[in-house]
Amino acid sequence: MDGNGRWARSKGFRRITGHSKGSIAVRNIVTHCRKLGVKFLTLYAFSEENWKRPRHEISILMRLLKRFLISERTLLMENDVCLETIGDIDKLPPDVRKTLEDTKTLTKNNQTLKLILALSYGGREELIRAFKKIGQNLLDGEIDLQNIDDTTISNALDTQNIPDPDLIIRTSGEFRTSNFLPWQSIYAEWYITSVFWPDFTPSEFDRALQNYGTRERRFGMTGDQIKKKTGGAF
Ligand code: FPP
Repeated sequence: MDGNGRWARSKGFRRITGHSKGSIAVRNIVTHCRKLGVKFLTLYAFSEENWKRPRHEISILMRLLKRFLISERTLLMENDVCLETIGDIDKLPPDVRKTLEDTKTLTKNNQTLKLILALSYGGREELIRAFKKIGQNLLDGEIDLQNIDDTTISNALDTQNIPDPDLIIRTSGEFRTSNFLPWQSIYAEWYITSVFWPDFTPSEFDRALQNYGTRERRFGMTGDQIKKKTGGAF
């Protein structure tokens, strides 16, 4: 959800106004995804590297997140949205963590859309946590070195119950992955738009989906092989 700061600057506002407008965009996109039948939506809300931002900005972002979690509980329940997180949420302030846990518990039986907030998330840090878990299982004799495969690693990640992303949308025109889902994104389709996150409306989302619909996803195979496998529907 990149570009909140630049959106604000371009309008002569403080950065924080961009974040605040950004949380309205979050609400609109979540509702839209629910309507479209999207099953999993992951929002990169706060990266591991974002802890390096000025203390004032971090604390305002945390306050916005807490406010969002409280104010949108009804919306999450009415739309049958289940909230989950990936990332090292132990680093979040205790009150934000508590609000997160309460919202997760409240929404845990909702089925229609899984909304995953990446918070204090870094792909490398997630991999380090996974490798430590696997190392411990090896030391405890619970797994065998020879049997380690990609499923072993996928199951040790924060995303263990979440499928790999089909489409990754990056707003604000930056061409980099910024430590987002490095393991899971190998065959994701990327869509990069110059629109800043606060201006990312449901129709911008539809534009991304339309573009995604034109892609031929081959997963390393030939186009003919994929057509045969999927009956032309990919
Ligand atoms: C990146 O824009 C955005 C963030 C670091 C924070 C995203 C947070 C929200 C949208 C609001 C709170 C979250 C939720 C889930 C309600 P940037 O500040 O890096 O923008 P810039 O690159 O233009 O400076």
